Amino acid sequence: MKNYINGTWTASESGRTFPNINPADNRDVIAEFPLSSSADVSSAVQAASTAFQSWKLTPAPKRGDILRRAGDIFTRRKDELADVMTREMGKTLTETKGDIQEAIDTAYYAATETRRLFGYTAPSEMHNKMNLSFRMPIGVCGIITAWNFPIAVPSWKILPALAAGNTVVFKPSDDSPHSANIFAEILEEAGLPAGVFNVIHGDAEAGAELVEHPDVRVVGFTGSTQTGTAIAARCAQLNKKVSLEMGGKNAQIVMNDADLDLAIDGVLWGAFGTTGQRCTATSRLILHEDIHDLVVDRLIALSQKLVLGDGRKSGTQVGPVINQRQLDKIMSYIEIGKQQTTCVAGGYRDTDGDKQHGYFIAPTIFTGVTSEHTTFREEIFGPVLSVSKVSSFEQAITLANDCAYGLSSSLYTKDVNRAFAAIRDIEAGITYINAPTIGAEAHMPFGGIKGTGNGHREGGWTVFDIFTEWKTVYVDYSGHLQRAQIDNY
Ligand code: SIN
Repeated sequence: MKNYINGTWTASESGRTFPNINPADNRDVIAEFPLSSSADVSSAVQAASTAFQSWKLTPAPKRGDILRRAGDIFTRRKDELADVMTREMGKTLTETKGDIQEAIDTAYYAATETRRLFGYTAPSEMHNKMNLSFRMPIGVCGIITAWNFPIAVPSWKILPALAAGNTVVFKPSDDSPHSANIFAEILEEAGLPAGVFNVIHGDAEAGAELVEHPDVRVVGFTGSTQTGTAIAARCAQLNKKVSLEMGGKNAQIVMNDADLDLAIDGVLWGAFGTTGQRCTATSRLILHEDIHDLVVDRLIALSQKLVLGDGRKSGTQVGPVINQRQLDKIMSYIEIGKQQTTCVAGGYRDTDGDKQHGYFIAPTIFTGVTSEHTTFREEIFGPVLSVSKVSSFEQAITLANDCAYGLSSSLYTKDVNRAFAAIRDIEAGITYINAPTIGAEAHMPFGGIKGTGNGHREGGWTVFDIFTEWKTVYVDYSGHLQRAQIDNY
């Protein structure tokens, strides 16, 4: 398979490729993809720079028409794309369909926003003078994303960037390149002009080339805190706009008055859905001491019943982790957890039957976890849940906030006063009440504080703060020189 540059499927100038491997069965090599060189990145950025000159002049609602058609095509190709996505990154078909639905929602939402790219007007300090402001497109956006949401997360960045009149070079994860090519096919079929959207495949080197390229004006990144922080440092030196969505270590608090059935369903879905490989995954569970043992016992029993397997097989509830490197990393955290705390469920690689050829880890639960422990502090990005016990609501909030990250959070309670106090006091970009930590809706801000982000939000109209620059316009129709701050005072 190839890169998509200037509307053409193009092999890498380097001639080098990398394999795309099914994590449920590593004997299944799906295809070879280009390992792009700096020349490939330059061609893509050149195409995007040239296309920007006419795309920025296309009326925004016309750009929106193309995005709406893209939403229709995503809908039509949903099942096919879900199968491609599950095969290359492992999560179940139900989950990959949900991933694509987020892109459909985003496409329709971004399309409507093209009629609402509002600036504002304000009175002037002077007679016969008018003040206006506009959101202007910026130029070429370099978009770099992870493999866990191969369509949804890119769509949150790419579709609003295009709606605002920018052009895009997308470097998807090398673990989910096939989905990215279908993204390009869909935008092409929707009528996007050549060069407005480009895909270059490759590893971290291609991503770094994209960040460095002088014609890339905005960088949008989702991935690890380590890589995101390095990108932000470089963008600061290069004076580029950068938006980061990085790690999470999300806590779900369950109080003693909570609906426990609801809370337990929430933990199972939040911690082990998508095999725990979500930025918003529930990785810490903070239980009030009154209900701790009951909840833990039920979680152990239910987690052991979750069906691990190939996400393309019906009945599978938990797919594999993405690759050998992640498997090794997660297993090393599990070993640390076993030394420091008590492993009450899972804690092993599952190699039963066909699973021997994939990267499967049994849903794992640790109890007796305190803020001193490694599994409490570090993002594991796998099916691992750390359970802590508290004796009060205040202690629960303090523990939830004792964290380097601040993406998502959740509280289960029937006490409305506690719910509102938690909404105010939990340090996170997202707080759920009586729902798990995961998920997002296209029209709402998504992002986090502390080690999770750098102050930007995707989703909703807030995303346009990333992908536009303000232009302020003063129209003086007085017919004579008016000197601001001089003649008036
Ligand atoms: C994530 O948690 O990584 C993304 C959230 C979502 O799209 O549901």
